[in-house]
Amino acid sequence: MHLSIVSTFAISIVLCTLFQEVDSKVCSFENELIATSWNVKNGETKILEIRFEHKNFTENRWTSLAFGNGPGMNNLEAIIFSRGDDDTITTYTAFTPKKKKVDVDDVAYVNVENSSVNGNHLKITVTRPLGSVGPRNHSLEKCVNWIVIPGGTLKSKGHFKKHHGGVEIVKNVCAAQCTSDIGKMVLTNRIH
Ligand SMILES: *[C@@H]1O[C@H](CO)[C@@H](O)[C@H](O)[C@H]1NC(C)=O
Ligand SMILES: *[C@@H]1O[C@H](CO)[C@@H](O)[C@H](O)[C@H]1NC(C)=O
Ligand SMILES: *[C@@H]1O[C@H](CO)[C@@H](O)[C@H](O)[C@H]1NC(C)=O
Repeated sequence: MHLSIVSTFAISIVLCTLFQEVDSKVCSFENELIATSWNVKNGETKILEIRFEHKNFTENRWTSLAFGNGPGMNNLEAIIFSRGDDDTITTYTAFTPKKKKVDVDDVAYVNVENSSVNGNHLKITVTRPLGSVGPRNHSLEKCVNWIVIPGGTLKSKGHFKKHHGGVEIVKNVCAAQCTSDIGKMVLTNRIH
């Protein structure tokens, strides 16, 4: 009896530690307006898949997910989604060399897997290599802040008026840790 209480206690501690570790690994973000989650798949190829939802993506607006430790809005690598005056969604990649300046790439380096607009609810999935990609060889292999920008109005195609607050910083995201193959790894270890 005494022993089983002790071992139950020990198991609880182990489980708590395990869950804490899982907790500290940030692989999603959600608030009233935005929901996004990401994971790395395809084993050695390491493709980063990002699902992004905007719950009030009205016409002629843009929204963005940016990566980098700033300072502020400087030196950020960004994925920008825009909606025209219909349901068409355009995806851009860009860089902010300094505040209020956005250099948009001629060709976006992320692949759009699928996208839908239902009313004003945008759901889009994009993929990119976790490692070096695009004109600036941008990599997300290292931990970096992810910045969620609900958006602003669209001046014209590819021209984004400044955003109006609501920016959220998801600190120190280690995307490489967000693998969908954890179950398989455990299994492989057991066989060895
Ligand atoms: C949705 O966005 C529009 C402007 O794009 C704004 O007027 C409206 O208040 C927003 N609705 C909610 C519920 O946030
Ligand atoms: C969008 O694509 C992703 C990746 O291919 C897939 O997991 C997801 O189920 C798709 N969603 C829809 C709504 O088709
Ligand atoms: C990106 O990597 C390629 C190949 O390694 C290299 O030739 C190029 O100069 C790099 N560009 C930048 C901006 O670092």
